[in-house]
Order: sequence, then C-alpha cells, then structure tokens
Amino acid sequence: MSGPASECEPATRFASLFTPLRLGGRTARNRIVHTPMSVSYGDADGSVTRRQVEHYARRAQGGAGTVITENFAVNVAGRQLPLQTLVDDERRLPGLRLLAEEIRRHGALAMVQLVHAGRYAGPWDVYDARRRLAPSAVPFELTPGRTVTPQEITVEEIEETIDAFGRAAELCERAGFDGVDIHAAQGFLISGFLSPRTNRRTDAWGGGFEGRVRFALEVVREVVRRTSPSFVVGVHLLSDERIAGGWTLHDAVRLAPMLEAEGAAFFFGVPATFETMRLPANAALMEQRGYSVADNAALTKVTGVPVVANGGLGDPHDAERVLKAGQAEAIGLARALFTDPDWPRKVAAAEPHTVRGCPCDPPRCLRTQLTGAVCDRWPAEAIERGYLGYDPEDSPPPCKPV
Ligand SMILES: Cc1cc2nc3c(=O)[nH]c(=O)nc-3n(C[C@H](O)[C@H](O)[C@H](O)COP(=O)(O)O)c2cc1C
Repeated sequence: MSGPASECEPATRFASLFTPLRLGGRTARNRIVHTPMSVSYGDADGSVTRRQVEHYARRAQGGAGTVITENFAVNVAGRQLPLQTLVDDERRLPGLRLLAEEIRRHGALAMVQLVHAGRYAGPWDVYDARRRLAPSAVPFELTPGRTVTPQEITVEEIEETIDAFGRAAELCERAGFDGVDIHAAQGFLISGFLSPRTNRRTDAWGGGFEGRVRFALEVVREVVRRTSPSFVVGVHLLSDERIAGGWTLHDAVRLAPMLEAEGAAFFFGVPATFETMRLPANAALMEQRGYSVADNAALTKVTGVPVVANGGLGDPHDAERVLKAGQAEAIGLARALFTDPDWPRKVAAAEPHTVRGCPCDPPRCLRTQLTGAVCDRWPAEAIERGYLGYDPEDSPPPCKPV
C-alpha cells in the first residue's frame, strides 16, 4: 500500500466525502477524484511539460484524493489532439516521473488516463491523410455537417493496439504512478468496439455481445498482466450510448463484472459519445446536475469495486447525497476542479460558499481546449498565464483551509 496518508480532518458537514477510499492496492485520502479533462497543456512532441505538472499538482494541492490526468494516447495512431501527451516510449519517462512525483507530493494518488482515439484520431483537418482505426468502416459526422469514414482495423493492428495499452501502463508504473484509467467511453476506439452501431465485424472481435466486448476485456487483461498486483487499473466505461440500436446500460451492467474479473479496480460510468451528445435528447446533458448518477448507481449494484459518480456534481450537497444514498463510492469532478482546485479544501472546511463555480454555458474550457484551456473564473494572472498552476514558493499545505 503506498497511498499517502490523509491530512484532511473529516469536516462535520460533507464528512462522507472525506473518508479514505480503497482503490485496488492503494488508498486515497478521500472520495474526491479529479476526473480526466483534456486541457492541452502538453506539447506537439508529446512529452510532459512543466505546465502540465503544475496544473495537475495544483489539483492535488487543492485536496483531491486522486488525480487522474486527461487522456494520454498509447501511440501516435491513437492521438486525437495536437498537444496530447503520448505514453509510447521510454523517452517519455522523465516527464512522466516528474508528473507522478509532484501529484503524489501533494498527497493525492496519481493516475494516467490511457486512450486510443480510434476514429477520432487527429489531425482532423486532413482526415483522409492516414488510416483512422475503427472496428468497421462506418461513416460518421466528425464535426457538425462533416461526414468522414474511418478504416476497418486489421487483426494485426488490434493486437498491436492491445500491446500499446500494455506498454503504456508499464511505463506509467515505472514512472511512479499509482494506476491507470482505461478510456472505454465517449466514442474512442474501445467504446467503438462495444457498440453494434460502429462494430459491424463478423469475426471474433464483433458480432454478438461476446465478440464486441472482447477488445475491452483483452486491453484490461493485458494492462493487468504487465503491471504489478498493487497497481490500480480502472475503466471509464460507456454506460449507455443513448441512441436507438446502440450500446445500452443493460450491456454495461453485463460487462462491468467481466472487466472486474479481469482486474478492473474502479469504474466511471459515462453516458453518450461525442456523436450522440449532438442528438437533441442529449444536447444539454453536460449541463444537467448529476446526469450520470443513475447509470453509476446501476454499475454500483453489480460490481464489488468502487464506482465513481461523475458529471454535474459540483455542488457538494449533491455529491454528499450520492455517497450517502450508496449510489457510488466516490465523486468525480472535472470542470469544478478546473475552475477551483481548492474545492476539496474549502468543502472540507465547511465553506462551500467560497468555491468558485463553473459559470459557462457552453463551457469556455471546451472552446479553448485545443490550444490550452482557460476559465473565466480564474484570477486575472492565471488567465493571462493560460493555466492555473501552483507557485511552489507560495503553496499552502495540503488540505488546510485557505
Ligand atoms: C474540456 C473538457 C475536456 C474533457 N476531456 C476528457 C478526457 O480527456 N477524458 C475523459 O474521460 N473525459 C473528459 N471530459 C469529460 C469529463 O471527464 C467529465 O465527464 C465531464 O466534464 C462532466 O463532469 P463535470 O461536470 O465534473 O465537468 C472532458 C470534459 C471537458 C469539459
């Protein structure tokens, strides 16, 4: 067990957020998880930058129990964004080491989200320039009004990709991270295999439920096989595609225990994909309070490992209610910790009224995501600098009220 000891005194209010959380072989100091959010503070080369280190360490400094990075790509073929970090090679180790060390130094468990973007791989302006891997060559709307067609991934490429996930996880463990979070949601490659809409294969990697879930199971199996037993392997799982003929919550509830049997140590249930988010019925999803709580409660019922409810839980009263009702064992916050990394410290001190709330509709961080996300609610100097990192000279001790 190597989770740093808690320095947070349980507050009289919101106490259920501040009890330790067992994640596989590690223990987080509380139940607040910094949820992956692509802010693009990396560089074109794909190595970790100082800006990223400060950004993530600041979220740990603010009191989150676990800090998961935005999705880092397991190889170039799976890279979506121009400044996305790659975990594909030994030469990434120095940057990754510093990132893990700084997050952990501020008392949080440190994890990397690993992705293969599949049909969403970039660059998007020249989509036809290279192979975009998907289970099947099904056309889709990449951006509103622009339909493109990915290529069908070969069996050899499937095997290479599974290996790439395993290698990336190995690198993360060597760099000192506590775990990885496998991205099997939002329409990226793994979730593309799950859906009968995007997986039309007739070989062993498609067809019925067993064939469509095989890729997800083999990725998790390989990652678990190549890392030590105490290394935490979680899964961001598409909980419901929210479209007729797509992957359903019923499917996710069936798959989660199978992933757990392979060694998955926590789950985030995530509804909808980039594509189905555009449907009128789902368009305002991200603005709804607690929009994935019901899906995560369903996963909680069928798994024996923590499920992290996430999405629109920035109000600590909502977060606490979810935990108290047993709908999840932990709370994931993305935009809330981006806007105010001190959310956990302030809530622990029973001062939620001092939290800077996310004001944007649609969120500015999404609009500024490609070049380095910013938030209007930050102090002026942080907006000017382009990120809200920490000042090591001026850092308050972790978990003490500011
Ligand atoms: C700018 C932005 C980037 C995101 N990037 C990721 C990502 O890299 N991986 C991921 O699983 N989810 C990503 N998400 C989704 C968040 O993890 C989260 O599910 C969503 O923002 C809802 O949670 P929230 O209400 O706490 O922000 C992103 C969201 C935003 C706004």
